[in-house]
Amino acid sequence: MPHIVVKNYKEFSLPAKSGEYEFLWMAQPLINAKSKLVAVRWKGREFLLEIKRKEDYYIIKSDKITRVSPNYIIKEALKNFCQLAQCEVLYDNLAALKKGHSRKSEEFFKEIDFFIKDFPTDKEIWIEIGFGSGRHLLYQASWHPETLFIGIEIHKPSIEQVLKQIAIKKLKNVYVIDYDARVFLEFVPSNSVAKIFVHFPVPWDKKPHRRVISKSFIQEVKRVLKPGGVLELRTDSRLYFDYAFDLFLQEKRVKLEVTKNIEPVISSKYEDRWIRLGKDIYDIRMQALELSPPLQNSFDFRWQNLHYKEALIEAIDTKPKVYEDFFVHFERVYKIEEKKYLIEVSFGSFDRPEHTYILLSQDGARYFPINPIPSQANIKSHKKIEELLNG
Ligand SMILES: C[S@@+](CC[C@H](N)C(=O)[O-])C[C@H]1O[C@@H](n2cnc3c(N)ncnc32)[C@H](O)[C@@H]1O
Repeated sequence: MPHIVVKNYKEFSLPAKSGEYEFLWMAQPLINAKSKLVAVRWKGREFLLEIKRKEDYYIIKSDKITRVSPNYIIKEALKNFCQLAQCEVLYDNLAALKKGHSRKSEEFFKEIDFFIKDFPTDKEIWIEIGFGSGRHLLYQASWHPETLFIGIEIHKPSIEQVLKQIAIKKLKNVYVIDYDARVFLEFVPSNSVAKIFVHFPVPWDKKPHRRVISKSFIQEVKRVLKPGGVLELRTDSRLYFDYAFDLFLQEKRVKLEVTKNIEPVISSKYEDRWIRLGKDIYDIRMQALELSPPLQNSFDFRWQNLHYKEALIEAIDTKPKVYEDFFVHFERVYKIEEKKYLIEVSFGSFDRPEHTYILLSQDGARYFPINPIPSQANIKSHKKIEELLNG
């Protein structure tokens, strides 16, 4: 994670601009919080830098919740911030900043909003979930230039590496997104995808709720696959195979195919390792057979009746509130200026919570940096947040 360690820095008047970076406001810790936060805008994308006080120095880095990818956006933001704040730098890890490939492939890195607003439907679509080193994704993309590939991953170094490879290989048909694939599928239009690959998902034997494959995931997959479309699960874990196969069998109308130790079109890094160790590799292919009803997923996350008012901040209860199928947890509060606050909040479903901020002023309230995704649990939480903050 890019960071700068400084002996000291000077606060400067905000908003201020340096290079492509606008520094908008600074938030001071108020309730449960320790660090200061600085709001940054780069090419319309907003995020926060965190200034963490240690004994006699400060660490400046990206705030985890609003963190943007690729990493060079953060590195440049830190450099520009330090220029304005005249940082007395003790140490930084920005030297490894490589310009070039990531920037060139920037157009292939997409935020969730891109897919929610305008999901591409003009081409055949193949999705790879948890692409890791990207060997399979890149191979398939170069052999199928007419197909649009969407690679979903949550491991940032893998995303960086694959973006570089996309530029090196001059691929034009791969979009990469840093997102939890289980939630991503909720926003994919019905009957729109031809293939979904899940190769060597983490088995999570001790934390099964974190597994990619679940009953609700399989139902989403069935909905997004067009009739004839196929999900391909490959695993070296017999336990995971048994668990997943049992779930696939519970579906009413699908075609299932199981194979063992067949030679793949291209083997991934994991596969190579397991084959060297002589492990068995299992494949399950599930083919969708029917058309699914269209997806309804629009919701307006603007608040009509929420704004700062006297005693609202003091009344915030930071204990998590648990409801039947969602929760709301006001975690921390920061003060930006008189009558302007930033509230860190988590909410939504228990296994896929949303972490974000609410910017609250006399003029109104909005999520910072972007609206949550319109899942049912988030919509319920949004309504509850207004109720709780209005007392
Ligand atoms: C064991 S690795 C396999 C990587 C690659 N498919 C291969 O065969 O080499 C599993 C990958 O899935 C990613 N992953 C785990 N949970 C995920 C999720 N919910 N959404 C997207 N990616 C996920 C991990 O970050 C990791 O890179």
